[in-house]
Amino acid sequence: MLAYDNAYSEFTFGDYVAPSIFEVADIKKDAVIEFHSLSKTFCMTGDRIGFAVGHADAVRGLGKAKENIDSGVPVYIQKTAEIALRSYRDSRKPKEVQAVADEYSKRADALVSALNAIGLRANKPKGTFYVWVNIKHTRMGCMEFAKKAIVEGVAITPGTAFGEYGHGYMRFAVTQPTDRIKEAVERLGKIVSG
Ligand SMILES: Cc1ncc(COP(=O)(O)O)c(C=O)c1O
Repeated sequence: MLAYDNAYSEFTFGDYVAPSIFEVADIKKDAVIEFHSLSKTFCMTGDRIGFAVGHADAVRGLGKAKENIDSGVPVYIQKTAEIALRSYRDSRKPKEVQAVADEYSKRADALVSALNAIGLRANKPKGTFYVWVNIKHTRMGCMEFAKKAIVEGVAITPGTAFGEYGHGYMRFAVTQPTDRIKEAVERLGKIVSG
């Protein structure tokens, strides 16, 4: 089975639409299951609710496994999630979801331009609330960079937290308002300029 985690599909910028795994040509549809979380799309982090889409046998199998390892999501949360999902009336994002995506887009713009201004080369991604930044030219490893940032009161995830290919990269999150993002990057200026 290929389990595809598409938690950020709704937080895309401009005209970009995040594809579903089921759009991949020639995919063996009965061997794929796609997961979504309401944590991001509806800011329901902590409510522990999401959904899976796929071949009936795969979804049934998932249900059987879940039934035996946990006790399910409280009914009032399920009802809330139902109302949230019903706000999708067609293929467009509901205005509440669009507003959150627009806010992340603005914050990503602010972060990218602030990082470039202090000499860190950053590009805006097509979506999500993360910006990955290559810091190899600073000659600091990502753990060293993360530690120095913490001393300045800024938390950034070192790329190696995600595996060996994360070496030389930092993952910034735009989960704080724009003024806080600008302040954080200002503090990082000290680290980058030595
Ligand atoms: C890619 C990705 N998938 C899933 C999750 C977790 O979602 P949930 O809150 O539903 O466990 C996260 C949370 O950070 C995520 O980044």
